[in-house]
Amino acid sequence: MDLEVVTGNISGVTADAIVVGLLEGSDKLDGETGTVDAALDGAIGQLIAQGETKGKLGENTLVHTLGKLPAARVVVAGLGKEADLTEDKVRGIVAGTCRLLRGKGARNIATVPLGAGLAGIGAAAAAQAVAEGALLGLYRFRRHKSGGDDDNGDIERLTIVAGARRRPSLKEGVRLGEILAGATVLARDMGNEPANFMTPSDMVREANGIATSNGLEIEVLERERMEELGMGALLGVARGSHQPPKFIIMRYWGRRAKGIDIALVGKAITFDSGGISLKPPASMGDMHGDMCGGAAVLGAMSAIGQLKPKVNVLALVPATENLPGGNALKPTDVLTALEGKTIEIISTDAEGRLILADALGYARQQKAKRIVDVATLTGACVIALGTVCTAVLGNNQELVDGIIAAGAEAGEKMWQLPTYDEYKEQNKSDVADIKNTGGRNAGAITAALFIGEFAGDTPWAHLDIAGTNMLDKQRNYEVKGATGVPVRTLVNLVISLAGK
Ligand code: BES
Ligand code: MN
Ligand code: ZN
Repeated sequence: MDLEVVTGNISGVTADAIVVGLLEGSDKLDGETGTVDAALDGAIGQLIAQGETKGKLGENTLVHTLGKLPAARVVVAGLGKEADLTEDKVRGIVAGTCRLLRGKGARNIATVPLGAGLAGIGAAAAAQAVAEGALLGLYRFRRHKSGGDDDNGDIERLTIVAGARRRPSLKEGVRLGEILAGATVLARDMGNEPANFMTPSDMVREANGIATSNGLEIEVLERERMEELGMGALLGVARGSHQPPKFIIMRYWGRRAKGIDIALVGKAITFDSGGISLKPPASMGDMHGDMCGGAAVLGAMSAIGQLKPKVNVLALVPATENLPGGNALKPTDVLTALEGKTIEIISTDAEGRLILADALGYARQQKAKRIVDVATLTGACVIALGTVCTAVLGNNQELVDGIIAAGAEAGEKMWQLPTYDEYKEQNKSDVADIKNTGGRNAGAITAALFIGEFAGDTPWAHLDIAGTNMLDKQRNYEVKGATGVPVRTLVNLVISLAGK
């Protein structure tokens, strides 16, 4: 879909539909909504008087213009109460309106910058929210459908119309929104692919594409190199699969000095059967999405390459399948991770923390100043926070706070869980330095603390996206399937580090 910003008044725009906003409880129709109402001989006012249109959040009233305006239809989009309006609500409103119009067969739509000038939302922020809401809300994954579905096609153009004074801010907001949504779509596409289309080698292909189109350095370590380096934990997980593991490294240099300001690390288990500690069949299929952490990191790098913040970023994506082949890792096996720590395997299904252990070791060898890892790590996180919040834990409160703030800006909710030392008892092993599961109690916390052992004293934070990476039904501007969380948070975080 093309996004455009044009100067003018929406009532004069030719399109399949034009969109104007209405606050709940506002008793007068002003601004563009008023102009459009006047052109329609008061039709909107009458709908309000009759109680059919109230301006409630997410409400859409479709009015045919019957030649009274150049556009064929008007949609009055409910904005809810002004006091409750946020940029994230704007994303959701726009998503709902765009999906409604797509269902009606609209190709070409125009809107005012919904939310701009209300509730402290500026023009640039509103335009960004409109762009993200439309692009993310209209997203669908149809690569493996051979057409012929009874569908009205796609919206091809969205034009944002406003006065000349707002044009520069709107253009800047749209550009940022398009880049962030585009990065999120890359992550969603990878997460939605079935496991036979998104093997570790397929992730390398995706990463190569992202690196080439965004001017990023890329290096991929093969099994042999992992052996030389001593990545025993990642190699242990990979043993049960015929697909070769890959360790993807990307580098973005945003400032002259050579130090790495932040390492972004993403878990990429391209299918998690549980290994020898096999998962029950009922929900095993969901585990094609166990690479969403890695996909989010790659997606974020695409945006970072385009936005060019003055920050040096290292991206690490350890990628492998977790399968129960004849050579597979077994409970009781002991592995040696990159920096020499030994790990007793209790469950081969606690594989994410193993591949992350080696990736964090690598980040430390590269002297990253901060490390943030992203992983679909634990079922316990889903029990604790459901699909609403990503869990964030870490050894450095400034970094955790930075992530929570970056998430709030993106509309990606983050909730911190504690990391008290007492929890570490659960990870103690009788035979090795640490064991890979800490029992059922506080499972999301003990998993994070396992990873934290490999961060050492480097400021580190961990995002558990097991509940937020996939949805089984649409919610606002997220659709069924992979959500692309937390791509936009990661990008905001990196931008916020410039100059720090
Ligand atoms: N990939 C899973 C976690 C997961 C569960 C993600 C549900 C998304 C939805 C992870 O590798 C796993 O299997 N974790 C185990 C750990 C346990 C064996 C300690 C879990 O959470 O059950
Ligand atoms: Mn697992
Ligand atoms: Zn897993």
